[in-house]
Amino acid sequence: MRQFLNERLPLTEFSAHLRKPLPKHINLLFSLGSLAMFLLILQAVTGAFLAFYYSPSPEHAHNAVTYISTEVPFGAFVRGLHHWGASAMVIIVVLHLLRVVLYSSYKAPRELTWIFGVLLLLVVLGFGFTGYLLPWDEKAYWATVVGVEIASTAPGLGDFVAKVMRGGTEIGAVTLSRFYALHTIWLPWLAFGLVGVHLFFVRYYGSSGKPENTPEEMKTGKPFYPDQVFEDVVGMLILFVALAAGALFMPVPLEDVADPTNADYDPRPEWYFLFLFQLLKYFQGPFEILGTFVIPTVGMLLLLFLPFLDRSERTVLWKRPIALTVTSLCVVGIVALTILGGTSKKLETTDVAVQETTQPTEQIQGAATPETEQVDEGEAVFDFQLTEEEIENAVEVEEEQQ
Ligand code: HEM
Repeated sequence: MRQFLNERLPLTEFSAHLRKPLPKHINLLFSLGSLAMFLLILQAVTGAFLAFYYSPSPEHAHNAVTYISTEVPFGAFVRGLHHWGASAMVIIVVLHLLRVVLYSSYKAPRELTWIFGVLLLLVVLGFGFTGYLLPWDEKAYWATVVGVEIASTAPGLGDFVAKVMRGGTEIGAVTLSRFYALHTIWLPWLAFGLVGVHLFFVRYYGSSGKPENTPEEMKTGKPFYPDQVFEDVVGMLILFVALAAGALFMPVPLEDVADPTNADYDPRPEWYFLFLFQLLKYFQGPFEILGTFVIPTVGMLLLLFLPFLDRSERTVLWKRPIALTVTSLCVVGIVALTILGGTSKKLETTDVAVQETTQPTEQIQGAATPETEQVDEGEAVFDFQLTEEEIENAVEVEEEQQ
């Protein structure tokens, strides 16, 4: 068999390539990329099993998720792996990015590896945003209302983008199937395609190693196979055990079925979007767009083009005071905003949205007028005011569901 394959495929060259030595100074942080890849595969596998039972319609989605969590053998476990795996994915990808920044691995000639990495980060966040709606419970619905409203504030194309996301003027059946298609077809294809290109660049340029490697030491480390692969696999096993423990002992929450007329609901996104959510509270009125569009977009563009902005040839961290300061400030800022977002009081979105179904529309609109808005002292209000049409649509959806 081996001979058969050897005669037909360049296996000897491939094996020699895998056994090529890595740079001498490499530590456990160089396994983070492999862990991200492992998580992507784990998400694809667990998601494929969940898709056996899930149904992307407002009538069935919530029931399907309840059924998976309570009736399907190992359903709660697989759902738990998928849920905690998503959070782990964000953490691992961000740590991987930080490792790349701290060791200067984004600098020439690895600019393209970095750019494809940033695109992967966006895809990972896209998975989180689209997956959040799928259980069709209260938090899913209202977080998506906020997310789509944020998209609608983008200058020029905002309304169009929001309409495309919703598949119309309301969040309903079309939105759910769109998010499902994005989550299970479009984004996975994109993710695996981008990972393919990312890894091609990683192998093509070789590992950057730690900055203290001399040119000779770049070729005198342990081989990728079997040494580095062994360490990566141990890391994957440890990560899997941690996720399995999470899936067994921390059941994934499922709230009541989405109620588009529930004005009292306190919408909160998944934890990794909390910093953006908190940012919104500091910008109101004409400055709203700074929090919803300008700061996130400029931040993302700076990240994307980092290798072209920081062209210095210094690679050792303590000789890069600006990079170190900016990275530290960003990390501290994002962590602080996340904590504030998780602990602060309600973002006044639903207050101005929909009140009791029994209230006439005028009253609902009245609740949104500045005179009647209740603002706690020191608590900023981000005004997602629904239009009369949106409120009527929400009431119709509610009536259809009953
Ligand atoms: C799903 C997401 C991702 C996967 C699966 C992934 C996978 C990998 C793997 C396996 C490696 C080689 C091992 C290592 O250096 O850790 C790597 C290297 C690299 N990644 Fe990623 N990555 C992802 C996201 C990112 C992100 C978000 C960035 C930065 C914005 C990034 C930038 C890089 C760079 C520049 C390298 C080369 C590092 C070097 O040569 O030392 N990657 N990635």
